[in-house]
Amino acid sequence: MSFERCLGVLHAEDVSLEAIARACGTPAYVYSAGAMRSRLREFQEAFKDLPALFCYALKANGNLAVVRTLANAGAGADTVSAGEIQRALAAGVPPRRIVFAGVAKTDEEMRFALRQNILQFNVESVPELLRLGELARDMEVEAPFALRINPDIAAGTHDKISTGRAHDKFGIPYRDAAEIFALGQRTPGLKPEGLHLHIGSQISSLEPFAQAYAKTIGLFTELRRNGVPLKRLDLGGGFGVRTPDEEPLAAGPLADLVAGLTLGLDCELIFEPGRALVAEAGVLLTSVLYVKKTDQRSFLMVDAGMNSLIRPALYGAHHDIAAVRVKDSSHFGLYDVVGPICESSDVFGRDRYLPALDRGDLVVLMSAGAYGAVMASDYNSRARPAEILVDGDRFAVVKSRVEPTEQYANESIPDWLGDAAG
Ligand code: LLP
Repeated sequence: MSFERCLGVLHAEDVSLEAIARACGTPAYVYSAGAMRSRLREFQEAFKDLPALFCYALKANGNLAVVRTLANAGAGADTVSAGEIQRALAAGVPPRRIVFAGVAKTDEEMRFALRQNILQFNVESVPELLRLGELARDMEVEAPFALRINPDIAAGTHDKISTGRAHDKFGIPYRDAAEIFALGQRTPGLKPEGLHLHIGSQISSLEPFAQAYAKTIGLFTELRRNGVPLKRLDLGGGFGVRTPDEEPLAAGPLADLVAGLTLGLDCELIFEPGRALVAEAGVLLTSVLYVKKTDQRSFLMVDAGMNSLIRPALYGAHHDIAAVRVKDSSHFGLYDVVGPICESSDVFGRDRYLPALDRGDLVVLMSAGAYGAVMASDYNSRARPAEILVDGDRFAVVKSRVEPTEQYANESIPDWLGDAAG
């Protein structure tokens, strides 16, 4: 396991989190390379009899060392901006393993991606498709594209991370697909290659996938029958990880489902897991600043806040919280674990059962490897956390803390404001 206790102290693989805090300070994200590799391997093993490529969704955690870890283990990249394509390339992902999604791609982004000769554009609207064709023609190349289908399926997950319902902004209605492919086929510069689908994130039941995949595969077969030369099905990501109420979505049953649905269908498969590969491979390591007791509550005030990890404030997401060292196992209590930000929503968890803790003690927020560091902000001008990668008994700072002085380094004061008052 990636995060376990050794002599009472929580470790990331073979490295004690106390040693990391001493060396690198807090708050800091700590990732286990081994955990990422083994999650990817689980998917690769389960799908070994199918022609599947796992394009890691960089939006979950785009740190170059994280992407390199997964790329070295055979992953491609699912990207949503030219910036993410640049990251994927910088981390060593081959262009032919990169797919590019996103509802509003700019001309510059599409030109950049065309120059890189990436595997596929996942197109989300007719105007975008036509624009892509124009740009490709200007560059005298062909743009390989998949249409992102909106299957109108509720994934049963949090409203803010559901993407496959008819009223969501993503994809095109599946009824319109035939007509749009016909347009794509007769438009020079465009090369129809596949269908794309992604219905949401943190989905823990197989049922929504079964419905959405079946619908999309039915459409794929029909389009092919009508002469659209499709060769690839990109079935997206969204595979849930463990929460107090949900079991993680297992790779085996998912592979069985896909094998059944694609039986006899000669086509390449792409999946875009983000969270499933990295969430449980990361923790946010933070120090206790104060323990404040009122007659109603005990607040554990830590040095990480909603600026470091926004998921609890934004989605009401649950992250397990644990003490790095249990000093006194006879004194446990209920704490509200809160950050230093001046907002009432800066709460990581209420009524968490934790051992007695004092100033300077270390605490971790678990399952913080996905959508943690990437969503961190400069709010309240607090340093953005450092990121540390552990691999066996080695560790390295893979992103240094972004200090407030660096945060305002590219701000400037116009001359007309004159000298500072006083
Ligand atoms: N593919 C597409 C087209 C996506 O939009 C997403 C995620 C993924 C793949 C990866 O999904 P995953 O396997 O990670 O579930 N910030 C939110 C999650 C937003 C997900 C957005 N799209 C959170 O912290 O829960």
